[in-house]
Amino acid sequence: MEGNASGAVPADVRETIDRLVRERQAVILSHYYCKPEIHEVAHFVGDSLGLSQEAARNPAKVIIFCGVHFMAETASILCPEKTVVLANAEAGCPMADMITPDALAKRKSELNGVPILTYVNSPAAVKALSDICCTSANVVAVLRSLAPKTILMTPDKNLAIHAQKFTPEKEILTWPGFCPTHHRLNLAEIMALKEAHPEAEVLAHPECQPKILREAHFIGSTSGIIKRVAESPKTEFIVLTEEGVLHPMRKQNPGKVFHEPSTRMICPNMKKNTLQDVITALETLDPVIKVPEDIRVPALRAVDRMMAVPRD
Ligand code: 13P
Ligand code: SF4
Repeated sequence: MEGNASGAVPADVRETIDRLVRERQAVILSHYYCKPEIHEVAHFVGDSLGLSQEAARNPAKVIIFCGVHFMAETASILCPEKTVVLANAEAGCPMADMITPDALAKRKSELNGVPILTYVNSPAAVKALSDICCTSANVVAVLRSLAPKTILMTPDKNLAIHAQKFTPEKEILTWPGFCPTHHRLNLAEIMALKEAHPEAEVLAHPECQPKILREAHFIGSTSGIIKRVAESPKTEFIVLTEEGVLHPMRKQNPGKVFHEPSTRMICPNMKKNTLQDVITALETLDPVIKVPEDIRVPALRAVDRMMAVPRD
């Protein structure tokens, strides 16, 4: 049933999913990093911010989440009345695991009231200890919305270093978290790719290391990168983020050419979500991701403050 670059979905599988979606009155949400065939059965494919907004706005009572654990948690924080099912229970995010509420509480106690800005790639209990959240799509706008000069940004140090460039008036303290998938990129390889394709526009996600971002012409969230490809006058691109973005890019821009690093950019957790998982999730409504109220209420404050900041 699984795994093809075109995203083709067998007719019987599509029928089963459509029938179960009707019976459950469900909506299927997918992050761009999921497999092409998951995009094809999803009702909405987006970046982290877009998925949170869609979870909140969609009238369906059941959300089948194809993504990683923290994303389903964010949906549960925003819509406690909905049943949020993570299609694959094993899909976590190693970056989110690089911070714990205990470690953050300890740092917070040393920082004397410095506000805490937490990337959504984090556990709900960490969001609950934070003042505001951000995604890669709104990080600069969120930082500018905060009055204090000094801010602790968790857990992604690369996103923090990137955002600092656009907010010289701030002093951003970092947390030593990172995305193992984006960290794999090798500078020598990127330089060689640029030399081989001098006309190509280099697109990168801010989870990449600073030395990689310095080589990029455009830096943005997954949906920002996809939009840039459609709007750019260029016809050739070097894509420095998880390769799931290539499926919508190729569909939307049949005349454009995409080069990838030979170090393949695959998030193994996003790729755990399969068509069979979607069917099983719709049949069993399990595993439900439900954030307990004592964590959800303070986490919602941080997420709501982020949602109130207009998107860049
Ligand atoms: P965005 O969806 O915000 O671009 O983030 C990418 C990511 O790594 C999600 O885990
Ligand atoms: Fe986490 Fe990186 Fe995968 Fe995003 S791409 S879910 S940050 S491991």
